[in-house]
Amino acid sequence: MNKKMNIVIVGLGNIGSYFYSYLRKNKNIIFNKTNTIPNILFISAKSLSKKRNFTIPKKMWLKNYMTSTKIKSVDIIVELIGGAEGPAKKLVFEALRNKKHVITANKALVAKYGDQLAKIAEKNKVNFEFEAAVCGGIPIIRSIKEGLIANNINKIYGILNGTSNYILSSMDKDKLEYKDSLLKAKKLGYAESNPESDLNGEDVASKLKILTSLAFNSFINNKSILIEGIRDIDQIDINNANQLGYKIKFVGVAESNKNKIIQRVHPALIKNNSYIAKINGVLNAVIVESNPVGQTVLQGEGAGAGPTTSSLISDLCSILRGNIKFPFVISDKKRRLASFESINNKKFSVYLRLDVKDKHGILSDIAKVMANNNVSIKRLVQNPTINKKNASIVIITHQGKSSSFVKVLASLKKKNYIVKNPKFIRIENI
Ligand SMILES: NC(=O)c1ccc[n+]([C@@H]2O[C@H](COP(=O)([O-])OP(=O)(O)OC[C@H]3O[C@@H](n4cnc5c(N)ncnc54)[C@H](OP(=O)(O)O)[C@@H]3O)[C@@H](O)[C@H]2O)c1
Repeated sequence: MNKKMNIVIVGLGNIGSYFYSYLRKNKNIIFNKTNTIPNILFISAKSLSKKRNFTIPKKMWLKNYMTSTKIKSVDIIVELIGGAEGPAKKLVFEALRNKKHVITANKALVAKYGDQLAKIAEKNKVNFEFEAAVCGGIPIIRSIKEGLIANNINKIYGILNGTSNYILSSMDKDKLEYKDSLLKAKKLGYAESNPESDLNGEDVASKLKILTSLAFNSFINNKSILIEGIRDIDQIDINNANQLGYKIKFVGVAESNKNKIIQRVHPALIKNNSYIAKINGVLNAVIVESNPVGQTVLQGEGAGAGPTTSSLISDLCSILRGNIKFPFVISDKKRRLASFESINNKKFSVYLRLDVKDKHGILSDIAKVMANNNVSIKRLVQNPTINKKNASIVIITHQGKSSSFVKVLASLKKKNYIVKNPKFIRIENI
């Protein structure tokens, strides 16, 4: 008799409904590739009466999704509810404790509880799979865990959020202000009704923490990470960047320097002829620098039901093939919290935009503030503002310590010639 594994899907929203339909349609192809029948035993969501674009056979509906963790014949539970707490957390913890394989697309849950969940999965010899939690359809997790296993990774970075990348690209291409670009993204379905976590960096941070942990064999570090969002970027910054030969991109970067890891999420000016600067719209791209392979680039759709299902099916096939692995590459017993450091000592060139009263002596005072903090000017452009009473000074600095720029900004903010909060964007040589 053919081997069969019984699956329960919990959550039938955007992702769950597509995954359910895809799995039903492609059951035979998946069987041919894994030699195991993927049998959907039950499905569940919040409400049975909700209108969906497919009919739910009554006998497949599980009234209480938590029952799935207790039914003996259930082998695999696919959690597609979302959120780090509440029903998703309850379901995944209980499923793993009861020796069910778990597949999830839930980056918030994995970033927060991934270490604990991986420990339970390893103890109970079941899979805990989360390829879909990072960059939708891009197979970055499996690439780190399998394809790049021989390599020593020293940097992993990229554009890890499609919504914010669409907004910045459209501000650049269509000359839209941030608010209008966000509205357009919502209209086109590229931004959720509440896109807060896409814009304030929390979404990228969750993905980056998971990648850092996999790349550097470390427990997840939720404390040591710099997170800055894109809300302050305006059309003037986009235009200034273009004139200086850059694009503004929202990046996530994890890098190891002398065995200390820095995790950071922030907008950055990137040379307009670089690979990352050309990733536009909702696309994501991840670049891994490792030894001996060198640079590896993965680019693709970072969200949406189809791409996310592609990753979920990859996780499913891994389980159907009986490929039980440690969720974070190495055994929980061998994982340690690596040494992390803050961004303070890291050196950057930066873009500074200072909107000032157009008065004599201001430039020399700004130069003095910078020199007092060991920061020097590489390039300076002064533009009158529309009302001509003020001026907008754009400075590109030589490399200086992050902590020095914090001091420069704090001093400048106190000056009575500053008319608007100074802008500060790191320049990234990637
Ligand atoms: N959307 C994307 O492009 C994308 C990409 C990558 C990863 N993800 C991740 O995939 C997961 C699902 O996202 P989504 O966009 O599909 O979300 P969604 O459309 O909001 O769907 C959530 C589903 O969870 C169900 N649910 C909510 N509360 C529940 C409860 N208490 N008990 C049982 N079911 C409950 C809902 O039931 P009802 O249908 O009855 O309301 C709904 O079916 C999230 O972790 C998300 O981060 C999404």
